[in-house]
Amino acid sequence: MLELHHVSREFGGLAALCQVKMVVPQGKVVGLIGPNGAGKTTLLNCISGLDSPTSGEIIFDGTPIHSRSPHRITALGVSRTYQNIRLFKEMTTLENVIVGQHIHGRSTLLHSMFVWPYHWREESRLKKDALALLERFNIGSVAHVHAGTLSYGDQRRLEMARALATRPRLVLLDEPTAGMNAVETHQLGEQILRMHADGITVVVVEHDMALIGQVCDEVYVLNFGEMIANGAPQAVKQDPKVIEAYLGHED
Ligand SMILES: Nc1ncnc2c1ncn2[C@@H]1O[C@H](COP(=O)(O)OP(=O)(O)OP(=O)(O)O)[C@@H](O)[C@H]1O
Ligand SMILES: [Mg+2]
Repeated sequence: MLELHHVSREFGGLAALCQVKMVVPQGKVVGLIGPNGAGKTTLLNCISGLDSPTSGEIIFDGTPIHSRSPHRITALGVSRTYQNIRLFKEMTTLENVIVGQHIHGRSTLLHSMFVWPYHWREESRLKKDALALLERFNIGSVAHVHAGTLSYGDQRRLEMARALATRPRLVLLDEPTAGMNAVETHQLGEQILRMHADGITVVVVEHDMALIGQVCDEVYVLNFGEMIANGAPQAVKQDPKVIEAYLGHED
């Protein structure tokens, strides 16, 4: 479903990604781990179109996407969450999800002006779907609260709900459990498994190895921009190259 060939991203003299190769099969949950500064977020940025590789190719479902805009990549079926939460803090929880949905709404401005009953039906359908997504992430009770006032954990859950609002086929999660306790992290793992059960392909950047073991079919390991290992979670954890990379970065 997703293939990266020789993907490099340089910032000035720094190679944040160096000749990265990665294959994400359809329907799998693939983990991306690595020490701080390894290039994990840069990799997700390149896939989602927020950033572009200096060289190399990124292919999604047979389509090269490495020089497409974020909007067009979203339209192809890719969505994501952010390590640094990006919500519209002045909007309500519900409005944040509705904004995420608009790409799937069929009403145009013309429709809303001349065929308003259709527009109204569309709005109420989108609202119903958005509320169902909030319920799924246990944040239905705060639907009408400003997103900026939500707890940190709820903001992360809202980011996931919003990512699903575009009905993606591939979801990229950047440290979705950062700041959560062990119980919340496990619950979030169950949400990822539900996405998997729904047929969504997932790439998850994560430091929590328990979560990686809970949800991932396969793990890739980045270190200083280079992909140093990949395989089943258990095997990767025992790989001497991986252990060395983490020991060298104890902080
Ligand atoms: N816009 C940028 N300009 C210059 N350097 C950047 C930029 N973005 C990232 N970098 C550098 O690229 C390297 C990789 O950063 P990146 O954020 O991708 O790492 P990461 O693996 O996500 O780390 P963390 O675990 O801390 O989130 C780092 O050395 C970082 O300083
Ligand atoms: Mg990062």
